[in-house]
Amino acid sequence: MPMIETINLTKRYGDLVALDNLNLTIEDGSCYGFIGPNGAGKTTTIKILATLLKPSSGQAQINGLTIGYQNRQIRPLIGYVPDFMGSYEDMVVTEYLEFFAAAYNIHGMQRKKVVADVLELTELSYKATAEVNSLSRGMQQRLSVARVLLHDPRVLLMDEPASGLDPRARIEMRELLKELKRMGKTILISSHILPELAELCNEVGIIERGKLLFSGSVRSALQRAKVGHVIHVAVAERTAEAAEVLKKVPGVVKITIAEEDAGINSNGTRRAEIMHVSFDDTGGRSYTDIPNVLVNAGHRITKFTEEAVNLETAFMRLTKGLVQ
Ligand SMILES: Nc1ncnc2c1ncn2[C@@H]1O[C@H](COP(=O)(O)OP(=O)(O)O)[C@@H](O)[C@H]1O
Ligand SMILES: [Mg+2]
Repeated sequence: MPMIETINLTKRYGDLVALDNLNLTIEDGSCYGFIGPNGAGKTTTIKILATLLKPSSGQAQINGLTIGYQNRQIRPLIGYVPDFMGSYEDMVVTEYLEFFAAAYNIHGMQRKKVVADVLELTELSYKATAEVNSLSRGMQQRLSVARVLLHDPRVLLMDEPASGLDPRARIEMRELLKELKRMGKTILISSHILPELAELCNEVGIIERGKLLFSGSVRSALQRAKVGHVIHVAVAERTAEAAEVLKKVPGVVKITIAEEDAGINSNGTRRAEIMHVSFDDTGGRSYTDIPNVLVNAGHRITKFTEEAVNLETAFMRLTKGLVQ
Protein backbone atom coordinates (compact mmCIF):
# COMPACT_ATOMS: atom_id res chain seq x y z
CA MET A 1 0.00 0.00 0.00
CA PRO A 2 1.40 3.44 -0.86
CA MET A 3 1.91 5.81 2.06
CA ILE A 4 0.29 8.70 0.19
CA GLU A 5 -2.21 8.27 -2.59
CA THR A 6 -4.57 10.65 -4.33
CA ILE A 7 -7.22 9.42 -6.73
CA ASN A 8 -8.69 11.94 -9.14
CA LEU A 9 -8.21 14.56 -6.45
CA THR A 10 -9.97 17.76 -7.51
CA LYS A 11 -10.32 21.11 -5.77
CA ARG A 12 -12.35 24.02 -7.07
CA TYR A 13 -12.45 27.52 -5.67
CA GLY A 14 -15.61 28.84 -7.32
CA ASP A 15 -14.97 28.60 -11.05
CA LEU A 16 -11.26 28.07 -10.64
CA VAL A 17 -10.05 24.49 -10.84
CA ALA A 18 -7.02 24.50 -8.55
CA LEU A 19 -6.53 20.72 -8.69
CA ASP A 20 -7.70 18.76 -11.67
CA ASN A 21 -7.97 14.98 -11.19
CA LEU A 22 -4.61 14.63 -9.52
CA ASN A 23 -3.31 11.07 -9.17
CA LEU A 24 -0.27 10.82 -6.92
CA THR A 25 1.28 7.69 -5.50
CA ILE A 26 4.09 7.94 -2.97
CA GLU A 27 5.60 4.83 -1.41
CA ASP A 28 6.60 4.42 2.22
CA GLY A 29 10.06 5.89 2.84
CA SER A 30 10.12 7.80 -0.41
CA CYS A 31 11.16 11.43 -0.75
CA TYR A 32 8.90 13.01 -3.32
CA GLY A 33 9.62 16.43 -4.77
CA PHE A 34 6.47 18.28 -5.74
CA ILE A 35 7.46 20.90 -8.25
CA GLY A 36 5.52 23.59 -10.02
CA PRO A 37 5.36 27.33 -10.57
CA ASN A 38 3.39 29.64 -8.28
CA GLY A 39 -0.32 28.96 -8.42
CA ALA A 40 0.17 25.39 -9.69
CA GLY A 41 -1.74 23.81 -6.80
CA LYS A 42 1.07 22.61 -4.53
CA THR A 43 -0.20 24.25 -1.34
CA THR A 44 -3.75 23.13 -2.08
CA THR A 45 -2.62 19.50 -2.42
CA ILE A 46 -0.51 19.62 0.73
CA LYS A 47 -3.29 21.24 2.77
CA ILE A 48 -5.73 18.55 1.68
CA LEU A 49 -3.23 15.84 2.68
CA ALA A 50 -2.74 17.65 6.00
CA THR A 51 -6.53 17.29 6.59
CA LEU A 52 -6.95 21.08 6.60
CA LEU A 53 -8.87 21.47 3.36
CA LYS A 54 -11.69 19.43 1.86
CA PRO A 55 -11.42 18.11 -1.69
CA SER A 56 -14.25 19.02 -4.10
CA SER A 57 -14.15 15.53 -5.53
CA GLY A 58 -11.84 12.54 -5.66
CA GLN A 59 -9.98 11.03 -2.77
CA ALA A 60 -6.77 11.27 -0.82
CA GLN A 61 -5.35 8.64 1.49
CA ILE A 62 -2.54 8.42 3.98
CA ASN A 63 -1.45 4.88 4.80
CA GLY A 64 -4.80 3.60 3.50
CA LEU A 65 -6.83 5.99 5.65
CA THR A 66 -9.13 8.38 3.81
CA ILE A 67 -8.84 12.14 4.28
CA GLY A 68 -12.11 13.64 5.44
CA TYR A 69 -13.33 10.35 6.93
CA GLN A 70 -10.48 9.15 9.13
CA ASN A 71 -8.77 12.43 9.99
CA ARG A 72 -8.38 11.51 13.66
CA GLN A 73 -6.32 8.46 12.80
CA ILE A 74 -4.42 10.30 10.09
CA ARG A 75 -3.23 13.28 12.15
CA PRO A 76 -0.79 11.35 14.37
CA LEU A 77 0.81 9.97 11.22
CA ILE A 78 1.56 13.31 9.61
CA GLY A 79 3.66 16.38 10.27
CA TYR A 80 2.76 19.47 8.25
CA VAL A 81 5.24 22.30 7.74
CA PRO A 82 3.30 25.25 6.30
CA ASP A 83 4.92 27.79 4.01
CA PHE A 84 4.83 30.41 6.77
CA MET A 85 5.01 29.65 10.47
CA GLY A 86 3.09 32.64 11.74
CA SER A 87 4.03 34.92 14.57
CA TYR A 88 4.61 33.90 18.18
CA GLU A 89 4.93 37.02 20.28
CA ASP A 90 6.88 36.75 23.53
CA MET A 91 7.45 33.04 23.26
CA VAL A 92 10.84 31.43 23.58
CA VAL A 93 11.85 28.39 21.58
CA THR A 94 11.37 25.76 24.32
CA GLU A 95 7.98 27.23 25.32
CA TYR A 96 6.90 27.06 21.72
CA LEU A 97 7.87 23.39 21.42
CA GLU A 98 6.45 22.47 24.84
CA PHE A 99 3.18 24.11 23.86
CA PHE A 100 2.87 21.91 20.77
CA ALA A 101 4.13 18.81 22.61
CA ALA A 102 1.34 19.32 25.15
CA ALA A 103 -1.13 19.54 22.26
CA TYR A 104 0.08 16.09 21.22
CA ASN A 105 -0.42 14.82 24.78
CA ILE A 106 3.27 14.49 25.49
CA HIS A 107 3.83 15.28 29.16
CA GLY A 108 6.33 15.39 32.01
CA MET A 109 9.85 14.09 31.59
CA GLN A 110 8.97 12.63 28.21
CA ARG A 111 8.15 16.12 26.99
CA LYS A 112 11.46 17.57 28.19
CA LYS A 113 13.32 14.77 26.46
CA VAL A 114 11.41 15.04 23.18
CA VAL A 115 11.88 18.81 23.06
CA ALA A 116 15.62 18.42 23.70
CA ASP A 117 15.83 15.71 21.04
CA VAL A 118 14.13 17.71 18.29
CA LEU A 119 16.21 20.78 19.15
CA GLU A 120 19.36 18.73 18.77
CA LEU A 121 18.23 17.17 15.49
CA THR A 122 17.46 20.59 14.01
CA GLU A 123 20.63 22.11 15.50
CA LEU A 124 18.71 24.66 17.52
CA SER A 125 19.75 23.61 21.05
CA TYR A 126 21.81 26.77 21.40
CA LYS A 127 18.67 28.84 20.70
CA ALA A 128 16.52 27.08 23.33
CA THR A 129 15.95 30.26 25.32
CA ALA A 130 15.79 32.70 22.38
CA GLU A 131 12.54 34.36 21.42
CA VAL A 132 10.90 32.73 18.41
CA ASN A 133 10.45 36.10 16.72
CA SER A 134 14.14 36.88 17.06
CA LEU A 135 15.21 33.86 14.99
CA SER A 136 16.33 34.18 11.39
CA ARG A 137 14.02 32.83 8.70
CA GLY A 138 16.27 29.77 8.34
CA MET A 139 16.11 29.03 12.06
CA GLN A 140 12.35 29.57 12.11
CA GLN A 141 11.96 27.07 9.30
CA ARG A 142 14.08 24.55 11.20
CA LEU A 143 11.98 25.24 14.29
CA SER A 144 8.86 24.52 12.24
CA VAL A 145 10.40 21.18 11.29
CA ALA A 146 11.32 20.54 14.95
CA ARG A 147 7.70 21.16 15.90
CA VAL A 148 6.30 18.57 13.50
CA LEU A 149 8.83 15.99 14.66
CA LEU A 150 7.60 16.10 18.28
CA HIS A 151 5.08 13.30 17.76
CA ASP A 152 7.46 11.35 15.51
CA PRO A 153 5.18 11.17 12.44
CA ARG A 154 5.83 8.77 9.58
CA VAL A 155 4.89 11.30 6.92
CA LEU A 156 6.21 14.83 6.52
CA LEU A 157 4.32 17.29 4.35
CA MET A 158 6.56 20.26 3.70
CA ASP A 159 5.40 23.30 1.77
CA GLU A 160 8.40 25.10 0.28
CA PRO A 161 10.53 24.83 3.43
CA ALA A 162 13.52 26.37 1.67
CA SER A 163 11.78 29.40 0.20
CA GLY A 164 13.16 32.75 1.27
CA LEU A 165 16.31 31.21 2.74
CA ASP A 166 19.80 32.40 1.96
CA PRO A 167 22.16 29.86 0.35
CA ARG A 168 23.71 28.77 3.61
CA ALA A 169 20.35 28.24 5.32
CA ARG A 170 19.20 26.31 2.27
CA ILE A 171 22.10 23.92 2.62
CA GLU A 172 21.37 23.48 6.32
CA MET A 173 17.73 22.74 5.52
CA ARG A 174 18.78 20.24 2.88
CA GLU A 175 21.09 18.46 5.35
CA LEU A 176 18.24 18.28 7.85
CA LEU A 177 15.91 16.82 5.22
CA LYS A 178 18.53 14.23 4.29
CA GLU A 179 18.72 13.21 7.93
CA LEU A 180 14.92 12.83 8.07
CA LYS A 181 15.08 10.72 4.94
CA ARG A 182 17.69 8.49 6.57
CA MET A 183 15.31 8.09 9.51
CA GLY A 184 12.88 6.48 7.07
CA LYS A 185 10.23 9.20 6.97
CA THR A 186 8.06 9.51 3.90
CA ILE A 187 8.55 13.08 2.70
CA LEU A 188 6.46 15.17 0.35
CA ILE A 189 8.25 18.45 -0.25
CA SER A 190 7.22 21.20 -2.60
CA SER A 191 9.31 23.78 -4.38
CA HIS A 192 9.10 25.95 -7.45
CA ILE A 193 12.75 25.15 -8.15
CA LEU A 194 13.67 21.72 -9.48
CA PRO A 195 17.45 21.68 -8.87
CA GLU A 196 16.78 22.24 -5.18
CA LEU A 197 15.01 18.88 -4.96
CA ALA A 198 16.83 16.83 -7.56
CA GLU A 199 19.64 15.83 -5.23
CA LEU A 200 17.40 15.10 -2.28
CA CYS A 201 14.39 13.38 -3.76
CA ASN A 202 14.22 10.00 -5.40
CA GLU A 203 11.06 10.95 -7.24
CA VAL A 204 9.54 14.14 -8.55
CA GLY A 205 6.12 15.21 -9.69
CA ILE A 206 5.66 18.24 -11.87
CA ILE A 207 2.39 20.10 -11.50
CA GLU A 208 1.05 23.01 -13.50
CA ARG A 209 -2.41 24.55 -13.32
CA GLY A 210 -3.65 21.74 -11.14
CA LYS A 211 -2.56 18.99 -13.48
CA LEU A 212 0.23 16.51 -12.92
CA LEU A 213 2.40 16.75 -16.04
CA PHE A 214 4.91 14.19 -14.95
CA SER A 215 5.65 11.84 -12.09
CA GLY A 216 8.68 9.57 -11.84
CA SER A 217 12.38 9.45 -11.08
CA VAL A 218 14.56 12.54 -11.48
CA ARG A 219 16.44 10.72 -14.23
CA SER A 220 13.30 9.96 -16.19
CA ALA A 221 12.16 13.59 -15.78
CA LEU A 222 15.34 14.68 -17.52
CA GLN A 223 14.94 12.09 -20.25
CA ARG A 224 11.37 13.15 -20.73
CA ALA A 225 12.49 16.74 -21.15
CA LYS A 226 14.96 15.46 -23.74
CA VAL A 227 17.76 17.44 -22.24
CA GLY A 228 20.26 14.88 -23.49
CA HIS A 229 23.94 15.20 -22.75
CA VAL A 230 26.50 17.76 -23.73
CA ILE A 231 30.07 16.48 -23.74
CA HIS A 232 33.12 18.72 -23.85
CA VAL A 233 35.80 17.17 -26.03
CA ALA A 234 39.20 18.57 -26.95
CA VAL A 235 41.91 17.08 -29.14
CA ALA A 236 45.59 18.01 -29.31
CA GLU A 237 45.31 19.44 -32.84
CA ARG A 238 43.04 19.52 -35.95
CA THR A 239 39.84 20.22 -34.03
CA ALA A 240 37.79 20.95 -37.15
CA GLU A 241 38.73 17.55 -38.60
CA ALA A 242 37.83 15.81 -35.36
CA ALA A 243 34.45 17.54 -35.43
CA GLU A 244 33.83 16.17 -38.93
CA VAL A 245 34.60 12.68 -37.64
CA LEU A 246 32.24 13.07 -34.69
CA LYS A 247 29.37 14.38 -36.81
CA LYS A 248 29.05 10.88 -38.27
CA VAL A 249 28.72 9.16 -34.87
CA PRO A 250 25.14 7.98 -34.24
CA GLY A 251 23.57 10.06 -31.47
CA VAL A 252 25.64 13.18 -32.11
CA VAL A 253 23.09 15.89 -32.76
CA LYS A 254 25.17 19.04 -32.89
CA ILE A 255 28.75 20.20 -32.44
CA THR A 256 29.84 23.71 -31.65
CA ILE A 257 33.44 24.72 -31.23
CA ALA A 258 34.28 27.12 -28.43
CA GLU A 259 37.54 28.67 -27.30
CA GLU A 260 38.60 28.25 -23.72
CA ASP A 261 41.48 29.31 -21.55
CA ALA A 262 43.78 26.35 -21.15
CA GLY A 263 46.21 27.81 -18.67
CA ILE A 264 49.49 29.62 -19.17
CA ASN A 265 52.61 28.18 -20.76
CA SER A 266 55.92 29.68 -21.92
CA ASN A 267 54.18 31.31 -24.91
CA GLY A 268 51.71 33.13 -22.70
CA THR A 269 48.05 32.28 -22.26
CA ARG A 270 47.10 29.29 -24.28
CA ARG A 271 43.69 29.11 -25.90
CA ALA A 272 42.24 25.70 -26.58
CA GLU A 273 39.43 24.76 -28.91
CA ILE A 274 36.76 22.72 -27.19
CA MET A 275 33.99 20.88 -28.98
CA HIS A 276 30.60 20.97 -27.30
CA VAL A 277 28.99 17.79 -28.52
CA SER A 278 25.21 17.42 -28.00
CA PHE A 279 24.38 13.76 -27.69
CA ASP A 280 20.98 12.06 -27.74
CA ASP A 281 21.20 8.81 -25.80
CA THR A 282 17.72 7.51 -26.56
CA GLY A 283 17.57 4.06 -28.09
CA GLY A 284 20.41 2.73 -25.94
CA ARG A 285 23.13 4.81 -27.63
CA SER A 286 26.09 5.77 -25.49
CA TYR A 287 28.51 8.64 -25.85
CA THR A 288 31.25 6.47 -24.36
CA ASP A 289 32.06 5.29 -27.92
CA ILE A 290 33.28 8.77 -28.84
CA PRO A 291 36.86 8.46 -27.54
CA ASN A 292 37.43 5.27 -29.56
CA VAL A 293 36.15 6.86 -32.72
CA LEU A 294 38.54 9.78 -32.27
CA VAL A 295 41.53 7.62 -31.39
CA ASN A 296 40.87 5.36 -34.39
CA ALA A 297 40.91 8.46 -36.61
CA GLY A 298 44.36 9.33 -35.26
CA HIS A 299 43.39 12.06 -32.75
CA ARG A 300 44.82 12.51 -29.28
CA ILE A 301 42.19 13.43 -26.71
CA THR A 302 43.10 16.12 -24.18
CA LYS A 303 39.68 16.56 -22.61
CA PHE A 304 36.51 14.53 -22.29
CA THR A 305 33.90 15.61 -19.73
CA GLU A 306 30.14 15.66 -19.52
CA GLU A 307 28.57 19.05 -18.91
CA ALA A 308 26.45 19.18 -15.75
CA VAL A 309 22.86 18.55 -16.73
CA ASN A 310 20.86 21.70 -16.65
CA LEU A 311 17.94 20.85 -14.40
CA GLU A 312 16.52 24.34 -14.69
CA THR A 313 16.21 23.94 -18.44
CA ALA A 314 14.55 20.56 -17.99
CA PHE A 315 12.06 22.02 -15.57
CA MET A 316 11.22 24.96 -17.82
CA ARG A 317 10.64 22.62 -20.73
CA LEU A 318 8.40 20.34 -18.72
CA THR A 319 6.32 23.10 -17.19
CA LYS A 320 5.81 25.05 -20.38
CA GLY A 321 3.94 22.05 -21.64
CA LEU A 322 6.53 21.56 -24.40
CA VAL A 323 6.67 17.92 -23.51
CA GLN A 324 3.41 16.01 -23.57
N1 LIG B 1 -8.58 30.20 -0.71
C1 LIG B 1 -8.53 30.35 -2.03
N2 LIG B 1 -9.54 30.92 -2.71
C2 LIG B 1 -9.51 31.06 -4.06
N3 LIG B 1 -8.51 30.64 -4.83
C3 LIG B 1 -7.45 30.06 -4.23
C4 LIG B 1 -7.41 29.88 -2.81
N4 LIG B 1 -6.25 29.27 -2.49
C5 LIG B 1 -5.60 29.07 -3.65
N5 LIG B 1 -6.31 29.54 -4.70
C6 LIG B 1 -5.92 29.46 -6.12
O1 LIG B 1 -5.70 28.11 -6.44
C7 LIG B 1 -4.60 27.97 -7.31
C8 LIG B 1 -3.56 27.08 -6.67
O2 LIG B 1 -2.99 27.73 -5.56
P1 LIG B 1 -1.89 27.08 -4.61
O3 LIG B 1 -2.31 25.71 -4.25
O4 LIG B 1 -1.65 28.03 -3.50
O5 LIG B 1 -0.63 27.00 -5.60
P2 LIG B 1 0.95 26.88 -5.26
O6 LIG B 1 1.08 26.47 -3.85
O7 LIG B 1 1.43 25.85 -6.24
O8 LIG B 1 1.54 28.21 -5.55
C9 LIG B 1 -4.11 29.37 -7.59
O9 LIG B 1 -4.69 29.80 -8.80
C10 LIG B 1 -4.62 30.17 -6.41
O10 LIG B 1 -4.83 31.51 -6.77
MG1 LIG C 1 2.16 27.39 -2.35
